Amino acid sequence: MEFPKTNNMPITTLSFLLCMLSLTYASKNCDFPAIFNFGDSNSDAGGLAAAFTPLNSPYGETFFHMPTGRYSDGRLIIDFIAKSFNLPYLSAYLSSLGANFKHGANFATAGSTIQIPTTIMPANGGYSPFFLDVQYEQFLQFISRSQIVREKEGIFAELVPEKYYFEKALYTFDIGQNDLGAGFSGNLSVEEVNATVPDIVNSFSANVKKIYNLGARSFWIHNTGPLGCLAYILESFPSAEKDSAGCAKAYNEVAQHFNLNLKESVAQLRKDLPLAAFTYVDIYSVKYSLFSEPEKHGFEFPLIACCGYGGKYNYSSTIGCGDKVTEDDGTQIVVGSCDRPAVRVSWDGAHYTEAANKFIFDQISTGAFSDPPTALNMACHNTAY
Ligand SMILES: *[C@@H]1O[C@H](CO)[C@@H](O)[C@H](O)[C@H]1NC(C)=O
Ligand SMILES: *[C@@H]1O[C@H](CO)[C@@H](O)[C@H](O)[C@H]1NC(C)=O
Ligand SMILES: *[C@@H]1O[C@H](CO)[C@@H](O)[C@H](O)[C@H]1NC(C)=O
Repeated sequence: MEFPKTNNMPITTLSFLLCMLSLTYASKNCDFPAIFNFGDSNSDAGGLAAAFTPLNSPYGETFFHMPTGRYSDGRLIIDFIAKSFNLPYLSAYLSSLGANFKHGANFATAGSTIQIPTTIMPANGGYSPFFLDVQYEQFLQFISRSQIVREKEGIFAELVPEKYYFEKALYTFDIGQNDLGAGFSGNLSVEEVNATVPDIVNSFSANVKKIYNLGARSFWIHNTGPLGCLAYILESFPSAEKDSAGCAKAYNEVAQHFNLNLKESVAQLRKDLPLAAFTYVDIYSVKYSLFSEPEKHGFEFPLIACCGYGGKYNYSSTIGCGDKVTEDDGTQIVVGSCDRPAVRVSWDGAHYTEAANKFIFDQISTGAFSDPPTALNMACHNTAY
């Protein structure tokens, strides 16, 4: 095909100028005044604990020196994200005591799914009632009620964001692991869980669009981790075929299928919503490297829970980290921490240690695992021209 040369020239010049402009613009660090987070236990900073029952020691012992409702011995990836922008650690939206929402709010709760769960805690099974649609509703209320609080002035006005923060904020997501986990723990076969992936991802995408419609423009979206490497899956499905790292192969394949769908749907969001910046973050690969090459990164026994009880993986579905156990001889013990959580990957068989979370944050914040290859502090820039 021939291009009319005379017409081509100005377009080339124009796109060159646009490109230079976007490069200049894109080289400035983002100044996020707030972060709003949506997710599950990977980023729960106390939401589920506030709604139901607190976690016990030794949760929190490494950094906070007390349980905070985080499912780790210390900080989570979202804490390192907030810290990197010199923002305070986000308060859980559900936390009614001592919360400060000036620089954002965390809507994540442990056990949250994207789609409505079939079994809901506390009375009827293991999943959080605060699934993603509910987290969206909470955020919707948060916007309007926080502005009413600001207008009233008084002591609470300083604890909520300014109106313009909502458009300038970073919106972070880490959810989906429990949708897959719920399928596996129910009566679905691996293939049946795999087949639910497109619906799960569609409802994720629908929520992201609704959040965009409320004014959000910068999105940082984690994919899901290798759940076939977690002790809770390995213990529940002992006959699953293992890969060279000792992880349950088919369960990780479903996670990867979810991630492929998620990546495609984020690419579609980028097309549909050109005013926003979407960064898809391949957290799976970073987490998997902790299981496949632990020594290289300074870790050991990645499959074995640091704080757990019994079995091949130091994990039991009935006796958790921080629980009391009566041994056969009648002595009572508390399920405590291993000696060196700083070199361990798995904290309690389902969640990562602070050391692992810090490692993951260090890897993903550079942009090396992002699509497009955007660093965390550039995540406000729309580079998809
Ligand atoms: C799985 O199937 C068994 C036997 O049919 C049933 O008792 C159990 O409630 C089912 N579990 C779930 C989570 O659907
Ligand atoms: C999941 O589904 C996709 C698409 O149908 C397929 O390519 C893949 O092999 C499936 N994976 C598993 C583990 O069933
Ligand atoms: C298993 O958990 C116990 C706490 O119940 C801990 O003391 C022990 O060090 C853990 N084992 C390993 C190998 O980490």
